[in-house]
Amino acid sequence: MQDRPHAEIVRDNLTSIQAHILQEERRHPGASGDFSMIISAISLAGKAIAAKVRRSNLEDVLGAFGTTNVQGEGQQKLDVIANEIIMRCLGDRVSIAVLASEEDEEPTILRRGSEGGKYCVLFDPLDGSSNLDCGVPVGTIFTILRNDPTIKGSVETVCQPGREQIAAGYILYGSATLMVLTTGSGVDLFVLDQSIGSFLLVKRGLRIPRNSKTYSVNEAYSAQFPAGYRAFLDAAKKDGYSSRYIGSMVADVHRTLLNGGVFLYPPTTKQPGGKIRMLYEANPLAFIIEQAGGMAYSGLHRTLDVRPTQLHQRTPVTMGSPEQVDAVLASLRKHGEGA
Ligand code: AHG
Ligand code: MN
Ligand code: MN
Repeated sequence: MQDRPHAEIVRDNLTSIQAHILQEERRHPGASGDFSMIISAISLAGKAIAAKVRRSNLEDVLGAFGTTNVQGEGQQKLDVIANEIIMRCLGDRVSIAVLASEEDEEPTILRRGSEGGKYCVLFDPLDGSSNLDCGVPVGTIFTILRNDPTIKGSVETVCQPGREQIAAGYILYGSATLMVLTTGSGVDLFVLDQSIGSFLLVKRGLRIPRNSKTYSVNEAYSAQFPAGYRAFLDAAKKDGYSSRYIGSMVADVHRTLLNGGVFLYPPTTKQPGGKIRMLYEANPLAFIIEQAGGMAYSGLHRTLDVRPTQLHQRTPVTMGSPEQVDAVLASLRKHGEGA
């Protein structure tokens, strides 16, 4: 039987995301408020991007921008717009040293060394954007890292293992606009109330179900997957599993967080290192899934323990409910793959 999440549903009080973060900061004596300024800028960017996404079928912002990003992927007009919005919202926050985006080849250095800057923010401005024209949910994924001023290069500065993240989240532009956020003490869910323009806390302490027989993977590529993944999928079919795949990782992982199951993007012969970007896709989502009681692996390694060496590095991912992730790992071990 499937476990249900036991998040605390917040009913009576109206708590905005800004108030929530300020309350959290009060528990840390000496907190400067810098962190809440960053979350506030991210929520402003989320509202501005949501407004663009919501009107995208009415304005000339759908379709290809006509360029490719550093990963050789075609950019959508809204990828470029969302990237600019985030840069503008975060660019003047004095506590940010470095910004890094999926859409930009190099990190943007805002201030270094004696100029201060405690944090780095890394993001995927619009995940799932190739599906935008058909109205599927897309999202912004972000992570906040500490800036070590003794490290010279900006790429070296942001190439931290995921376990070093101090906060991570995503904004999902779906049937509602919502934000999921962790600062390392559980996962909270906020929903944008369009009528007042605020993200309001609706669930505190989200927990992923321990077990749910659902897998989420682009199964058309399964002939290219290593044998351990194929064996898991074969066994799952015989075991009464159901399948769900949107093709927007942020939306697939959000559903997995709420309903349970496992999201997979394995290595393929075309992409032997996997497709998902480590620093601003896999790590933030892995942090959230773990904080909700789930598991996240890259092959046979815990995703958050992998030390990245490149800004746009890719990784295979398996993340979700503990029982399903364990079953995938067991299958990988049995077939001697994924290490
Ligand atoms: P992005 O739109 O930021 O480039 O990311 C797309 C990613 C991810 O969201 C999704 O899970 C995956 O691409 C889908 O890939 P396939 O089309 O290969 O299934
Ligand atoms: Mn993406
Ligand atoms: Mn993207």
